Amino acid sequence: MNHNNAEPQLTSNRRDRRVLNIHEQLLEIEQRLIPTGLHVFGRPSRAGERTDMLKMIAAFDRPEADTRALSALVAEGLGIPAYKKPAASSSLNETDLRDREHVDSIISEAFKAFELGGVEAAIKSLAQNASVSAEESRPVFLLLENISRQLEINSETEALMRALRGEYIQPGPGADIIQNPAILPTGRNTHAINPYAVPSAIAFARAEAVADQLLARYKAEHGRYPRSMALVLWGLDNIKTQGEGVAQALWLLGVRPVADARNRTTTVEAIQREELGRPRIDVVMTISGIFRDLFSPTVQLLDRAVRLVANLEEPVDQNYVRAHVLAQIENEKCDADEAMTRVFSNAPGNYGTNVNFMVMDSQWDRDETLGDLFVTRKCFAYGRDSKGQAIEGIEARVAMDRALSRVEATYQNIDTFEIGITDVDHYFEYLGGISKAVEKRANSRPAIYLSDTLSPEAKIRSLEETVRLETRAKTLNPKWYEGMLKHGFRGVAEIEGHVCNTFGWSATADAVDDWIYIEVANTFVLDEAMLERLRNLNPHSARSLVGRLLEANGRGYWDAEPEVLNQLREIIGSLEDQLEGVA
Ligand code: BEZ
Ligand code: MG
Repeated sequence: MNHNNAEPQLTSNRRDRRVLNIHEQLLEIEQRLIPTGLHVFGRPSRAGERTDMLKMIAAFDRPEADTRALSALVAEGLGIPAYKKPAASSSLNETDLRDREHVDSIISEAFKAFELGGVEAAIKSLAQNASVSAEESRPVFLLLENISRQLEINSETEALMRALRGEYIQPGPGADIIQNPAILPTGRNTHAINPYAVPSAIAFARAEAVADQLLARYKAEHGRYPRSMALVLWGLDNIKTQGEGVAQALWLLGVRPVADARNRTTTVEAIQREELGRPRIDVVMTISGIFRDLFSPTVQLLDRAVRLVANLEEPVDQNYVRAHVLAQIENEKCDADEAMTRVFSNAPGNYGTNVNFMVMDSQWDRDETLGDLFVTRKCFAYGRDSKGQAIEGIEARVAMDRALSRVEATYQNIDTFEIGITDVDHYFEYLGGISKAVEKRANSRPAIYLSDTLSPEAKIRSLEETVRLETRAKTLNPKWYEGMLKHGFRGVAEIEGHVCNTFGWSATADAVDDWIYIEVANTFVLDEAMLERLRNLNPHSARSLVGRLLEANGRGYWDAEPEVLNQLREIIGSLEDQLEGVA
């Protein structure tokens, strides 16, 4: 080690900031709600799982139930002016952090009382520890008691039997439990949403802060606003949130939804430039096949929004949609309809990008192939042309290539506690796939962001930050993987799936740090006792996991030590022998 070139001494101020920063990050990982095991059909959730969920439900104001967030009630009771969650952390100082820990510990205390003595005990605990009036806290705990009771029952098996007999099944809304506890009890027939009510007023209001944060983050990192962004919109997510993703797209464009005489949201109006206070951002929207099928009027709304903005007589440095459309018409000699195409999906009747399958099956040579596949699958335009003719899945590869060539940032809204970006392969197939497509067409890798609208104060993170957080909170977290391993064969498959999905973020976006692969290898493969467990429970997945690590190295995503590689090769050899029945 050479100490002569050590970093210049940190000033104590900067050092304190760094320590605070690390502290915040640790809190963020610790407080992240993770599933600790798979849902078992027909089985109600256990007491410990219920408490974590109830705590999260109580962390939000719930206007529909006329209750306020417990954190706000406790902070007020203690006379703490502005209780800031980690999400608002840019301005946190040591006192804020201490306040927050104090508030959290009082809430934990109240939950202990709630578990042991019910609603009245919880009310008493908050009154004693934080002077919260019973009038304010009772409705919260009554709500939680009701939800808790519904979590204890489970009639999924019964409902399935009724369905198989062709009998009636009660309907219920489809959503995330934290977003909307009215989804309980489970085992009902999920009904979707009225697309003419999307985005809802609440979704539109919530989306403003997210869009602002997204733009502020890009501006802080690049010194100006992004001129064009690519957004991924999914159907189920927009059902759950009543159109939060849709509303974010509208905010970026600088328009608001307008209801017609029959109270159907069928059009938009421009938000005045003075009110918006920033340029209108060009937005390329890739919608899933499910979104296209479920939200036909919303597809029209989005297309209409782009056309309206493109036609506003505004200075082009304040309206990037108009700037791009005019330049494209001029330079490419294309017509206005082609230049205004921004809503893309699969060909009618088709779904998905297939990028996930290509990654899982290791069927590509150059990474750009993944982006090309994305465009091949998703280059079908939807909307309505200037003459009012419906455009329903017309192949528009050139229009999509052009639109993507201007993109500077890509983004997807995440709105659920249950599924994160390494839990399923769909996030990397969509957000990763489009980012890879942009990289080639724009000659530059876009900035990639995700929101976390599941916390009370929505937060924007870079893809790299999100991969790190998910890895620490799930894949490498003993609480998570031990929960999975309780499910035996399937649990090992889940762990392997997470490693594969993480690898998907290397393949599509080069967003995975070396330490992640190193720690995955250390935790699941190079630890003899753990490897023994995995190979006994599910040697197939164990083999795939080791194979994926070697592939990460082979494709240049992970610069592994030769010694580690030798060990991995030896282990995969022995797993293959085991699978072939060689002793
Ligand atoms: C959707 O809801 O649109 C969706 C669901 C799963 C994968 C991809 C998209
Ligand atoms: Mg790397």
